Amino acid sequence: MTAPAAQSRRQNERRGRHEGSPGVDDAPVAGEDPRDAFDRDVLPTPPGATAALLKSLLAPLRGRVALAAVLLLLQQAATQAGPLLVAYAIDSAVPAFRVSDHGPLLLVAVAYLFAAASGGVLEYAFITCSARVNQDALLDLRGRIFRHAQALSVDFHERYTSGRLISRATTDVESLRELLSEGLQELISVVVSFVYISALLLWLDLGLGAVAVASFLPLALLIRGYQHRAGRIYRERSTAIAAVIVKFTETMNGIRPVRAFRREAANDAEFAPLNKRHERTNGDALLEMARYVVGSRLVANVTVAGIVLWGAYRVAGSTLALGVLAASVLYLRRLYDPIDRLGMFLNSYQSAAASLEKIAGLLAQVPAVPEPDAPRELPATLDGRPGREVVFDSVRFAYRTGGEVLPRFDLTIPAGQTVAVVGSTGAGKSTLAKLLARFYDPSGGRVLLDGVDLRDLANADLRRGVVMVTQEAFLFSGTVAENIAIGRPEATREEVVEAARAIGAHEFIAALPDGYDTDVRKRGGRISAGQRQLVAFARALLADPAVLILDEATSSLDVPGERAVQRAMSTVLRGRTAVVVAHRLSTVEIADRVLVMEKGRIVEDGSPAGLVGGQGRFADLHRAWRDSLA
Ligand SMILES: Nc1ncnc2c1ncn2[C@@H]1O[C@H](COP(=O)(O)OP(=O)(O)O)[C@@H](O)[C@H]1O
Ligand SMILES: [Mg+2]
Repeated sequence: MTAPAAQSRRQNERRGRHEGSPGVDDAPVAGEDPRDAFDRDVLPTPPGATAALLKSLLAPLRGRVALAAVLLLLQQAATQAGPLLVAYAIDSAVPAFRVSDHGPLLLVAVAYLFAAASGGVLEYAFITCSARVNQDALLDLRGRIFRHAQALSVDFHERYTSGRLISRATTDVESLRELLSEGLQELISVVVSFVYISALLLWLDLGLGAVAVASFLPLALLIRGYQHRAGRIYRERSTAIAAVIVKFTETMNGIRPVRAFRREAANDAEFAPLNKRHERTNGDALLEMARYVVGSRLVANVTVAGIVLWGAYRVAGSTLALGVLAASVLYLRRLYDPIDRLGMFLNSYQSAAASLEKIAGLLAQVPAVPEPDAPRELPATLDGRPGREVVFDSVRFAYRTGGEVLPRFDLTIPAGQTVAVVGSTGAGKSTLAKLLARFYDPSGGRVLLDGVDLRDLANADLRRGVVMVTQEAFLFSGTVAENIAIGRPEATREEVVEAARAIGAHEFIAALPDGYDTDVRKRGGRISAGQRQLVAFARALLADPAVLILDEATSSLDVPGERAVQRAMSTVLRGRTAVVVAHRLSTVEIADRVLVMEKGRIVEDGSPAGLVGGQGRFADLHRAWRDSLA
């Protein structure tokens, strides 16, 4: 692709993404295209999705949530009894003690000890109970993110990079954990103690209580202002963290091209502003926090000073008991002490809310290639042959991010036929293959397997029916044998070895340090690109699909290696329906039929021999291949 073409495709992508993602209201972040929702990490989230997610996480844990709430209320009652007992001691028990009545003071001491001890026990019970609730909820959430992301379409993953998914499942879940395990507990404690203490203060002395309650108004205003500003900052911060992770994973995943093209300096230059932006949002958050703390302390100290002055004046005039003043001041300290920390809990609340919103946005994504609710069965294959008929019926297809790649495409491949597809780069060969493997659904028309629309097939049937092997043969961590058996985990060792032999992979596998039990990610288990492709072939062969698609799957093999696979292939493909996207002549020679594609259309269709003899595109191509081998 030429540079201007690449550029215009990128622009098209941007436009396409924008159209597909309305209702994004997050403030644009400097340095990014404000139109691009996927780049900005915020997926359109239906209203109420965040609350619904939280509810669905806690609903199964309802009983324990209720238990935790009761424990917390009791714990607060025990803890807040202290100053009340002090007031009683000063005003009643000490005067009684003076006239040799020891009973009341003893009672106060015992009650104080009891309140302290039961407060401790209740707190312990509350923490254990709520920790269980949190752990279960987070376990559930991580599982949901994993399962859902896995179910989303290839199209989604092409746009929502793996770095973003990683930050959803790590930093975002982590900030939720912080909220649940520390913030929420403290936040609820503070709210409950506010209610308790206000009630006690009003009960002790209506006047002093009223002054304390009046101070809540400026505090509430401060908190609201803080929440508003911090909320914005936290949303931005979590986007910034995600951008850092995305850049990181993208660079490290592509470390080979990075090295090959000496991209290090350019990458550093791109990473620096992202890193900086993250740091700046952190700084902004701290600044907001500092403003809030200073403001709230001012309100608290002014109120306490006022109450002490007024209270002392009234104690002197004997309209207020000294014990009541002492208890009031003790309560006020308890009331205001946690306010600084309240800012911190609100912090974690804000950042968790921002995270939850993003997770909810991800979970609200509907798989673009969904499994049908009422799947249809495939008919039994004819006389036990493995192949099935494939029909492209008026298929049209456009990627979300570009123009139409297949304009009205019709093709019938009889069961058992091996079709080679050739054509220039960008002709649509891979697109054809991906539609047949149902990585995408057509925008119009149908793809049929033995007369059944792929969209009507259960995932399990589709997996058994169609297998695609591509150029980038991916190996999962695990042993070579496990990698071969992925399509049929119940296969015996003999079957695994047989598949490897059939494809010509047995020799190199047997030569590995632990043979078939060699871990592909461990030392000595590193295998070359060509060997990986052989493993991928063995995997496909063992899966034994009705339709096998090979998309330039032999491109990493050397010519002798490919020849060997080719020979194996003609046995492997016998009876099976096969679509082989070919880039070499040898592949075409084993085919029953050749299709030449150009701009999403079939321009030639015939037997290899017939086309070679003709005057068309394939004859030219054939000559060129011939010459390059000579
Ligand atoms: N994931 C994608 N998103 C958007 N456009 C794509 C994508 N994959 C391929 N295309 C476009 O579709 C056209 C056909 O591509 P492809 O089927 O990969 O061709 P081939 O395999 O024949 O080289 C090209 O114009 C290509 O730019
Ligand atoms: Mg291709």
